[in-house]
Amino acid sequence: MRVTLFGASGLLGHELVHELSGTGRNREQDQLTAFSIEDADLRDHARVRNLVRDSRPEWILLLAAYTDVDGCESNRDLAFAVNCDGAVNVAEAARETGSRLLFVSTDYVFDGGKRSPYQTSDPRNPTSVYGESKARAEQRLLEILPQVCIARTSWLFGHAGKCFPATILKLASTRPEISVVNDQRGSPTFTCDLASALVKLCRASAQGIVHVTNSGNCTWYEFATEIVRQSGLPAAVKPVTTAEFPRPARRPAYSVLSPDSLHAYNIHLPDWQDALRRYLASAQVVPAPAVP
Ligand SMILES: NC(=O)c1ccc[n+]([C@@H]2O[C@H](COP(=O)([O-])OP(=O)(O)OC[C@H]3O[C@@H](n4cnc5c(N)ncnc54)[C@H](OP(=O)(O)O)[C@@H]3O)[C@@H](O)[C@H]2O)c1
Repeated sequence: MRVTLFGASGLLGHELVHELSGTGRNREQDQLTAFSIEDADLRDHARVRNLVRDSRPEWILLLAAYTDVDGCESNRDLAFAVNCDGAVNVAEAARETGSRLLFVSTDYVFDGGKRSPYQTSDPRNPTSVYGESKARAEQRLLEILPQVCIARTSWLFGHAGKCFPATILKLASTRPEISVVNDQRGSPTFTCDLASALVKLCRASAQGIVHVTNSGNCTWYEFATEIVRQSGLPAAVKPVTTAEFPRPARRPAYSVLSPDSLHAYNIHLPDWQDALRRYLASAQVVPAPAVP
């Protein structure tokens, strides 16, 4: 596959570059052109257009985004300029070159009011500026490129940047007790597993909305408890409520994404506990011996 990727220096971008360079689990010969913000700001339509025209990709992977969820609340214009208008620039370039586009989206397009996994057909109802900007982008891309593939994911963790397990490991090794919210439920997703699934979706010529997360779900408190347990750190984890830790952006209380759309492509991701084990092993955290 000839692939052009936007967002190369982000958490997921690093993993996809690894995957598509043939150094990851994907051993096929792919021709990758990867851009970071220094090469191309998504807001620069002409630049995006030229880069896509010159690289003539079969697939464009669009991961670049303004992902600071709380920052988006106070920078609404920037959030929409990057996450929506920037995505539209890429989609228009894709249309001109006849390239396929895979856009990475988010569980934040939902309001979190459900108590069973969100299907791809469930209506969008974002409750944050970040979620609004991504939801609007999804709608615009479907208008511009009816064949677009929109891969929604959630709660990413990986090696190439700040993520929840890294924060918990740091806190749990310096404090006797850490407090973590226990009233938001979702599916943690390892960038390594996500990258592999996204490449498979491209090879399968996927289109429409697909939900791509590791299997199973938990609250942030349960996730933190499992991180501490698997890494053998002595810290206690205390459950608290979102109300006790107010943040600028509202988070969905429940954002579990149904895997049905992914299974339709015969792609199955391992459960999040298994993904966490592999993350910790590759982060060289020695797990504690199993307690009988
Ligand atoms: N992280 C999650 O939990 C999560 C959950 C669901 C969906 N997603 C989606 O997954 C995708 C990848 O997320 P991630 O966690 O890998 O994000 P990330 O680490 O923040 O990476 C995003 C990249 O986009 C770049 N970027 C920001 N503004 C840009 C612009 N105007 N033009 C070009 N590039 C720009 C950033 O560059 P700088 O670093 O220089 O700003 C960064 O390298 C995003 O589309 C995100 O919405 C993430």
